[in-house]
Amino acid sequence: MHHDDVNSKVDISALPFSQACENNKQPILEVLQTELQDFNHVLEIGSGTGQHSVYFAPHLSHLKWQTSDVTSNHRHIIAWHDAYPAPNLYPPLAFDLTINLRPINGQLNTPYDAIFTANTLHIIGWSLVKKLFALAGDTLQTDNKLIVYGPFNEHGDYTSEGNQRFDAMLRAGNPDSGIRHKEDVVSLASEHHLQLVTTYAMPANNQLLVFQKAK
Ligand SMILES: C[S@@+](CC[C@H](N)C(=O)[O-])C[C@H]1O[C@@H](n2cnc3c(N)ncnc32)[C@H](O)[C@@H]1O
Repeated sequence: MHHDDVNSKVDISALPFSQACENNKQPILEVLQTELQDFNHVLEIGSGTGQHSVYFAPHLSHLKWQTSDVTSNHRHIIAWHDAYPAPNLYPPLAFDLTINLRPINGQLNTPYDAIFTANTLHIIGWSLVKKLFALAGDTLQTDNKLIVYGPFNEHGDYTSEGNQRFDAMLRAGNPDSGIRHKEDVVSLASEHHLQLVTTYAMPANNQLLVFQKAK
């Protein structure tokens, strides 16, 4: 069994499991507790296994956490939600950047005031990164936030040898993937009126970028 939790009534040993999520969930949560304290409704893009969502939702009980991903991941996310239900945690929306131009508004009629995505920009191709930022810019209103977690290059270079190896591995698997240059991402964001307001250095040479929609 690779993960235990005495609080779960479901046998979680069979669930898909990301060790990276276990390692980064607490540091990310600490930032979200600050950045999202006055926010209401978060859309998570690329929820993956769903591990982040089941950890964040109960610790951010003042807001609604809406998961989403391509449909092939939904059974994993739903399995984690079944193991760790929370009243403010919402089952995944079918959301695929190759298809959707805008997120659908889910089960709720309140608009999203924040979008969170972790470890997606280096997986999807740059054309889909562009769609993600266009969509975020269209969806969010003034002062709403887009929060992006993952590895980034800076000043034209890797920030660590580990990231360099990771990038080579990603590109060997899919030439469209790869660690993005932070400057390119910031410039793309500004095209959609999303200004980088805060950068958090995170463990394992990752960063958390907070963008805010300008007027
Ligand atoms: C490396 S995983 C990250 C998962 C999770 N956020 C985490 O931090 O562990 C990348 C995620 O991007 C999602 N993804 C890939 N292509 C996508 C697309 N076209 N539209 C939306 N999500 C996509 C994958 O399904 C997967 O959940």
